Amino acid sequence: MKAKIAVLPGDGIGPEVTAAAVAVLHAVAASDGGYRFEFGEHPIGGAAIDACGDPLPPQTLAACTSADAVLLGAVGGPKWSDPNAKVRPEQGLLALRAGLGVFANLRPVRVHPNLATLSPLKNEKLRDVDMLFLRELTGGAYFGAKTRTDLGATDECRYTVAEIERVTRRAFEFARLRRKRVTHVDKANVLETSRLWRSTVTRVAREFPDVLLEHQLVDSMAMLLLTRPAAYDVIVTENLFGDILTDEAAALAGSLGVLPSASLGDGKAGLYEPIHGAAPDIAGKGLANPLGAILSAALLLRHSLDLEHAAADIENAVVATIERGVLTPDLGGSARTQDVTAAVLDALGTGQCRIAA
Ligand code: NAD
Ligand code: IPM
Ligand code: MN
Repeated sequence: MKAKIAVLPGDGIGPEVTAAAVAVLHAVAASDGGYRFEFGEHPIGGAAIDACGDPLPPQTLAACTSADAVLLGAVGGPKWSDPNAKVRPEQGLLALRAGLGVFANLRPVRVHPNLATLSPLKNEKLRDVDMLFLRELTGGAYFGAKTRTDLGATDECRYTVAEIERVTRRAFEFARLRRKRVTHVDKANVLETSRLWRSTVTRVAREFPDVLLEHQLVDSMAMLLLTRPAAYDVIVTENLFGDILTDEAAALAGSLGVLPSASLGDGKAGLYEPIHGAAPDIAGKGLANPLGAILSAALLLRHSLDLEHAAADIENAVVATIERGVLTPDLGGSARTQDVTAAVLDALGTGQCRIAA
């Protein structure tokens, strides 16, 4: 099997962490003759604005559309953050998500016990934390009409029933493979879009009588994520709430640098990126934690290429690396990006990553 993977390093630490993820994908392919990856690198974000004035050049979108999967680092940075700028790196990322039709953004959150001490929460609260966020990714305020005058501005938040149904079904399907609980997060006491979400999710839930559904308002959910994080299984929510809650959940896991994501649409192809940004404060210094990007590569193997074994091998190699204490500064260590990557490769190569039965 040969898979075409479009690699979009982007800005800031993006190139550093994607290089790590690509190295790990090379290693898993080398250790198994059954499949091969063909990588093609393309500009996006600020790098693409600098190269051709467009944060998502048509050639980049075309390469992504024809690939089996897309691996992205991050976009953005102070160089392109002038509030009056006409083009911004983030527009490239949003256009890519829309162009690929990847409406379901999966953000799994688990807490390795060795990293629990890094969280501001008491350790015992973090035991058994294992959540899967399903963040709607191609609708809501991110994609509504925007207006701006000297005196004011608007961002329209729109959702259709069809948009809510498809991501909700995905959430319930994943819940069936897990602990069979879905928490839907909204602001139905204030927002009309949330009331549409609530009634639509409730109706879709009837197709899944074996899965338990609860609704939670987003403000209290922000608190509950900190007070009882282990209580949640699958969490489904709209685009903006999902963006905010998953960064909050990252604090449970020890660092934004360890959380991966998979963005899926109707087909097998997907977009894989760590949830963190371009981290301009540490870019170019070799300090970036590559684990979020490496774990995103594992999700790529699982969801787009059906290579479950290889995905689990990478995840186990990451666990082995954490347990060896090879950690970047965001996790309290002094290892560099390359040291962590080398440790993951080492764990893959020595088979330390295979969990003994
Ligand atoms: P950020 O995620 O880039 O950084 C927040 C903090 O976390 C920083 O202190 C950073 O050093 C740290 N951090 C993030 N990833 C890390 C990693 N892998 N290893 C170690 N530390 C890490 O968020 P921000 O500073 O708010 O945003 C910076 C830029 O990135 C903005 O332009 C923003 O739009 C963009 N951004 C892009 C994406 C994306 O491309 N998916 C996601 C979030 C933010
Ligand atoms: C993310 C980021 C993006 C988002 C930005 C960079 C557009 O924060 O992937 O979480 O808000 O979706
Ligand atoms: Mn975000």
